[in-house]
Amino acid sequence: MSLDFDFFYNWAYRNLNLNLDAYKETQLQRRIGTVMKNAGATDLQEYAKLISNDEKIKRDFLNYITINVTEFFRNKEIFEEFENVLKEILVPRFKTINIWSAACSIGAEPYSLAIIMDKNKIPIKNKILATDIDEPILQKARQGVYKENEIKNISKDNLKNYFTLNEKEYAVDEKIKNMVTFKKHDLILDNYEKGFNAIVCRNVTIYFKNETRDLIYRKFQESLVPGGIFFTGATESIYNPKEYGLKKLSTFIYEKI
Ligand SMILES: C[S@@+](CC[C@H](N)C(=O)[O-])C[C@H]1O[C@@H](n2cnc3c(N)ncnc32)[C@H](O)[C@@H]1O
Repeated sequence: MSLDFDFFYNWAYRNLNLNLDAYKETQLQRRIGTVMKNAGATDLQEYAKLISNDEKIKRDFLNYITINVTEFFRNKEIFEEFENVLKEILVPRFKTINIWSAACSIGAEPYSLAIIMDKNKIPIKNKILATDIDEPILQKARQGVYKENEIKNISKDNLKNYFTLNEKEYAVDEKIKNMVTFKKHDLILDNYEKGFNAIVCRNVTIYFKNETRDLIYRKFQESLVPGGIFFTGATESIYNPKEYGLKKLSTFIYEKI
């Protein structure tokens, strides 16, 4: 079956403000084919109509293509490395720290950062900025309530100090919630704020085409102050950091030159 992806990409751009052109083609088109069939449509024109008329089908589509998988302290050892960079490099250099957690999903990443900041008594300049393209996922993030599988990397001490257990769900304490601001932001289409001492953007650029990823890295570089740190995901090591005005500190941590 051949599907008219040109039509669908144009339609998604006009109607959902989504630039699907920026995502890796084969992977994305396979996912769209699957979610279209699940919705009971046989071609993309029919699927577009279903998305326009049915909120649940629209939600399923957005969920399926944005991929929200996350957990607290994802890749624990790498997070510890970032914590050391914060304490040993960023705090002596900047005193107060302004952090952006981009593509933050349900909030596990920015709340992990807030816990690190609180535990180490690192002063934050502004609240941690946490952004994602997906508004419903941001609503869940603002609630700050998590299931067992999402908190598995949290140490006993952190769990005791920063969460309250209510009927098998773990709620992040208000103190930590108050350290984070959630905002809708599209890494492809929106402008980037500036003046960050650290930007954490993990496990999203792998879904983008190389040109899109390059542009995003350049914009992150511009958003960092000189000497600021960029922290990527465990499969997103940057092969040629100099091209983006970055210097490698370790496989997943880079400094703005
Ligand atoms: C796999 S999750 C990564 C979450 C977290 N950073 C982590 O590493 O655990 C990818 C997130 O990227 C978001 N995303 C996808 N496309 C985006 C875009 N164009 N702009 C901003 N966020 C996007 C998705 O909504 C999803 O929440």
